[in-house]
This record gives sequence, structure tokens and C-alpha cells, in this order.
Amino acid sequence: MARSLAVITGASSGIGVVFARKLAVEYDLLLIARRKELLEALAAELIALHGSVVAVLPADLTNARDLAVVADRIASEPTLALLVNNAGFGTSGVFWEANLEGQEQMHRLHVTATVRLSHAALKNMVGRNSGGIINVASVAAFVRRSGSASYGATKSWMTAFTEGLYLDLQSVQSAVKVQALCPGFTYSEFHDTMHVDRKGLAPPSLWLRAEFVVDESLKALPRGKLFVVPGWRYRAIVALVSKLPTPLRLAFEAAGSKRGFSGK
Ligand SMILES: NC(=O)c1ccc[n+]([C@@H]2O[C@H](COP(=O)([O-])OP(=O)(O)OC[C@H]3O[C@@H](n4cnc5c(N)ncnc54)[C@H](OP(=O)(O)O)[C@@H]3O)[C@@H](O)[C@H]2O)c1
Repeated sequence: MARSLAVITGASSGIGVVFARKLAVEYDLLLIARRKELLEALAAELIALHGSVVAVLPADLTNARDLAVVADRIASEPTLALLVNNAGFGTSGVFWEANLEGQEQMHRLHVTATVRLSHAALKNMVGRNSGGIINVASVAAFVRRSGSASYGATKSWMTAFTEGLYLDLQSVQSAVKVQALCPGFTYSEFHDTMHVDRKGLAPPSLWLRAEFVVDESLKALPRGKLFVVPGWRYRAIVALVSKLPTPLRLAFEAAGSKRGFSGK
């Protein structure tokens, strides 16, 4: 019997690879990222292990032409069941000293690509009244820090956008589910790409394994849970910070910025 399709962006490393490995048990996959050779190696592994159909679509999602190709593919997949908008990256340094092109690319990847791919997916799913989207945001959507102006802003946008989609879907009693997955510091290539030393960022107790993050997300999806914050420590931080009056929240964020672990 034909299996449903899960599409994962940022599937060449970290959290995206774990999503692919877990979802391959049940779904056929379409894997998207720039590094074709890594996608192909993962596809070969998953085909051998599970006999699933695993296609790769190398694409730079900050590039308008690549993004259009991916969106068209998602819109036309007849068995589309899940889209994981996971591709993302961080930068370090105060905003005015950071490379401007990098900041703009971050907005294109976290915001524009999420809009475009979610639109393609929902046009496809809502008519069939089934499917789901997981938008990989961050604890940084709730707890910001110095050196992450664009990152915090784009991840906050992702949570607000996902909440808007949730309300839209509820308004038509759709069975389609959306989730904003908000991990804290997670072991992956993320901080290597940023050239940041993990030890200086947070104590070991705050570091999460990507397997745990993905398990929490997939466990919550059938229940239609809108916000998923893996780990009780992060849930406590988010709950506390969200309730603080603005001056206190800013003081907390400023102190965390000095120590470097106000959330990622
Ligand atoms: N690690 C953390 O501490 C943490 C915490 C909270 C949230 N997150 C979020 O989790 C998501 C996954 O990150 P990760 O931790 O797994 O980091 P990662 O290991 O660096 O993975 C990032 C993925 O995004 C892809 N990507 C980056 N730029 C892209 C582009 N222009 N076009 C297409 N794909 C692109 C990368 O693939 P290519 O380089 O092959 O293109 C890679 O597959 C991100 O959205 C990140 O913001 C991470």
C-alpha cells in the first residue's frame, strides 16, 4: 500500500536528520537542504533500513528560484501528510556588526520560506482535511538575548505565524494540525556553523539531544498541541519569563546575555 509523504527541510544534519530517521518508519520522505551528498547518503540509509521511498531535492531555500521549485513540488504531492519547516541557522554578534547579507538570509529562510512552503502545503492538505505542519522555532521565540536580534525576531515570528494558522484551521474545523516546536540548546551542527563554543553557552543540564526534541514533537502532533517546548527546565523558563513584566523580563534577558544562556 502507498505510504503518505513527509517533507523535511534542513534534513542534512541535526534535528532534521532525526526527523527523517523517525518518520521513515511510517512515511515516504522528501528531504530538502543544500548539501546534496548528505541527503543522498541519508536517503540510501533509510531506503535500505525501511524500504521507504526517499527522494532528495537539493535546494537553497533563501534562493527564490529554488524556493519556488520546492513549493511547487509540495503543492503537487498527492499523498502529502507532513511538512517540517526545520531549516535554519543562527549568527553571533551584535546586529550592526553582523554581516547584513546573513541577517537578510535568515529572514528569507525562517520567514519567507516558511510562508511559501506552508502555503503550498496547506492548499494541498486542507482540501483533503488531513495532514500537519511542524514549524521548528526555538525557546528564543520567548527568551531573547543580545547577539540574536534577527534570530529571536524570526523565531518569534514563527510561533506567531503558527498560532495564526492554528486559529485559521480551527475556524473551518479542519483536521489539519500545526505545531510550533520550540527547543532550547540542542546538540547538532547549529553551534559549529556559528563557530560558538557550546561550553560557554549553557550548563550541561540545559543541553538537549535531538532525539528527545523530535520524540517530544512527534508525540504531541496527533494531540494537536500548538506549542511544544521539550524539557521541563525550558518549560519552566518559558512559563516564568512569559509572566514577567517587561522591565523584569529585560533584566533577566540582559543577565542571561552576559552569561550567554538565555535560550536558543
Ligand atoms: N541546535 C539548537 O540549539 C537549536 C535550538 C532551537 C532551535 N533550533 C532550530 O532547529 C532547526 C534545525 O537546526 P539544527 O539544530 O538541527 O542545526 P543544524 O544541524 O545546523 O541543521 C540546520 C539544517 O538547516 C539546513 N539549512 C541551513 N540553511 C539552509 C538554506 N539556505 N537552505 C536549505 N537548508 C538550509 C542545513 O542544511 P544545508 O547546510 O545542507 O543546507 C541543515 O540541514 C533550526 O531551525 C534551528 O533554528 C536549533
